[in-house]
Amino acid sequence: MAAGAKKRVAILISGRGSNMVALIQAAKDESYPATIAVVVSNDPAAEGLKRAADAGIATAVVDHKKFGKDREAFERELHRQLTTNHVEIVCLAGFMRLLTPWFVRQWEGRLLNIHPALLPAFKGLDTHARALAAGAREHGATVHFVAPEMDSGPIITQAAVPIHHGDTETTLAGRVLAVEHQIYPYALKLVAEGRVQVSGERCLIDGQPAKIHS
Ligand code: GRF
Repeated sequence: MAAGAKKRVAILISGRGSNMVALIQAAKDESYPATIAVVVSNDPAAEGLKRAADAGIATAVVDHKKFGKDREAFERELHRQLTTNHVEIVCLAGFMRLLTPWFVRQWEGRLLNIHPALLPAFKGLDTHARALAAGAREHGATVHFVAPEMDSGPIITQAAVPIHHGDTETTLAGRVLAVEHQIYPYALKLVAEGRVQVSGERCLIDGQPAKIHS
């Protein structure tokens, strides 16, 4: 695919950035419909920043601590970084700041998140421990468009994994992370190719309801 036809993507991180690496790897393929224009972290110490730089991707830091309680000023600066880099799609990948409705509206339909659970189950943190404690038989990961309410918004794709007897938070997290690294590049590809339409609370892919992969 010609470079000019590819969608320009920003990845927002706060930590180790393994999903970011999966997206960067996928985007290396010439036929992939998106290019990673910039990786932005709210934490200057995020391990993912070095991994992005090592991969030759531009990085930026918008340190939320410098903005004190002024969430809007932080987001205006974040937004400025994205527009300066001519970003068209934003992927949250372990980005640990809640975004205000203002920011979400700016990027509506172009803002994706990955969550380590089969939404709408287990929104929020500690999803693996909570799935184990609840005795769930299945767990997984979800890529969705971001809506103002945390961990909600139309689901683009999901992947389920089994929960085995004797699983710990660590073994389960590893199994889920492996599918995260598959579904995020897949979901971004669908969005970048314009194959995802939002219909009410749901996504249609090529006009069909989204499926759960397992
Ligand atoms: C992933 O489990 C993701 O689903 C969640 O935060 C974690 C980030 O991991 N939102 P990484 O930084 O991509 O390795």
